[in-house]
Amino acid sequence: MAAAVFLAVSFALLGIQEATATAGFIQAPLSQEGLVGGSVALHCEAVGRPVPEIQWWFEGNSPNDTAYQLWDGAWLDRVHIHATYDQHAASSLSIDKLSAEDAGTYECRANNDPNRNHLTLTPRVRWVRAQASVVVLKPGTIETFVENYNSKIRLTCTLNQSSIEIVGHRWMRGNKVVKEDTLSGLTTEFEVDKEETGMGNYFCVFLPEPTGKGEFILLPPNVTAVKKSTHGEEGTTITIMCKASSNLPLLYWTWHKVVDSDSEIIVSDKKKFFVNSTGLETRLTIYNLDPSTDPGSYLCNGTNSEGSGWETITLRVHSHLAALWPFLGIVAEVLVLLIIIFICEKRQKSSHDADADEDELGSAPLKSSGHSLDKDKNVRQRSTS
Ligand SMILES: *[C@@H]1O[C@H](CO)[C@@H](O)[C@H](O)[C@H]1NC(C)=O
Ligand SMILES: *[C@@H]1O[C@H](CO)[C@@H](O)[C@H](O)[C@H]1NC(C)=O
Ligand SMILES: *[C@@H]1O[C@H](CO)[C@@H](O)[C@H](O)[C@H]1NC(C)=O
Ligand SMILES: *[C@@H]1O[C@H](CO)[C@@H](O)[C@H](O)[C@H]1NC(C)=O
Ligand SMILES: *[C@@H]1O[C@H](CO)[C@@H](O)[C@H](O)[C@H]1NC(C)=O
Repeated sequence: MAAAVFLAVSFALLGIQEATATAGFIQAPLSQEGLVGGSVALHCEAVGRPVPEIQWWFEGNSPNDTAYQLWDGAWLDRVHIHATYDQHAASSLSIDKLSAEDAGTYECRANNDPNRNHLTLTPRVRWVRAQASVVVLKPGTIETFVENYNSKIRLTCTLNQSSIEIVGHRWMRGNKVVKEDTLSGLTTEFEVDKEETGMGNYFCVFLPEPTGKGEFILLPPNVTAVKKSTHGEEGTTITIMCKASSNLPLLYWTWHKVVDSDSEIIVSDKKKFFVNSTGLETRLTIYNLDPSTDPGSYLCNGTNSEGSGWETITLRVHSHLAALWPFLGIVAEVLVLLIIIFICEKRQKSSHDADADEDELGSAPLKSSGHSLDKDKNVRQRSTS
């Protein structure tokens, strides 16, 4: 009896609630576009009595993706949810540092059924849903150019595409803003006085951020020798070469001969030396190599507006005489041998003659005396034993 009354009452209440207080949206989230690295924010508001709960769900674009609920701090804290439940429910979802995988369908769900989150009971009133899609756009690629322009260096940034409207450009030196405009072009430039050296790093920023950022690292050239050491033959011509890497145009190249700790600038006279410098490369040609004056260290020196970079190349010169040394050595050896043989032969010959003389000139007594000594020895040995 009591149960029947309760049922009747609750059906009556339900009837009233259904008519007046189920959850409904007063603001549904709007679809958004965001750039990789940027952020998007979605907003949702719902009314009902009691005040409904708002949940956020996400389903990615790839076919295997299934919807799951988002929470504050999800996705390595890139997802933030701020909700207020006062007269009605309001919830904001924001996603920072967007990546391509964040593209998909975001769903705002609202429900005020007391059983809405019960694990086994199905709520009498279904969740109401509102969807918004988020598209994540790739920012364009920025190309940077540096050129000498009269007494200035012109820095240019060009964005090859933009999926969102450009609303301005900002130029920064380090983290100081040096120029800003509200133009919409895909190209922006900035001029720097050539005399202004040690400029450091410049950035161009396309607005709104993070549409794109270009960087200029302005440094002296990095000069490297194509071959750190080389050698040539006396009388021939040799060419040595240096290269530079630099994002600023090179103003000039010089070559020096290092003498002791000093260096002498080399003049391209086309008789002894010829310097050919083209952009980031320089070649020094040395004609008619001389082993007494040309060997040593050669220094190539490249200069841009930020300073200079250099490298030394060691040159050795083989003289014609040097090439002869091994041959001369053999000749000398043969000569020495011949002399030795000659002397030996001479000696042998003269000793033979001496022997012959001795034989003739009574060596007999010597021999006989030797014999007699031997005999004595034998006698003594016998006697003692
Ligand atoms: C989707 O699932 C199928 C079957 O499990 C699998 O072969 C395929 O690689 C999955 N695709 C993606 C994009 O994960
Ligand atoms: C811009 O440059 C990037 C990288 O080089 C390239 O992937 C993209 O397709 C380019 N966009 C256009 C419109 O050319
Ligand atoms: C200079 O260039 C060489 C060769 O390209 C490289 O190994 C070296 O790291 C560079 N030095 C600097 C300071 O960039
Ligand atoms: C200088 O070097 C460049 C690059 O190798 C070459 O094309 C040019 O002919 C050279 N100039 C002279 C005058 O040898
Ligand atoms: C390289 O050239 C620059 C500019 O001419 C000069 O200041 C610098 O001393 C030179 N470096 C060397 C090692 O000669």
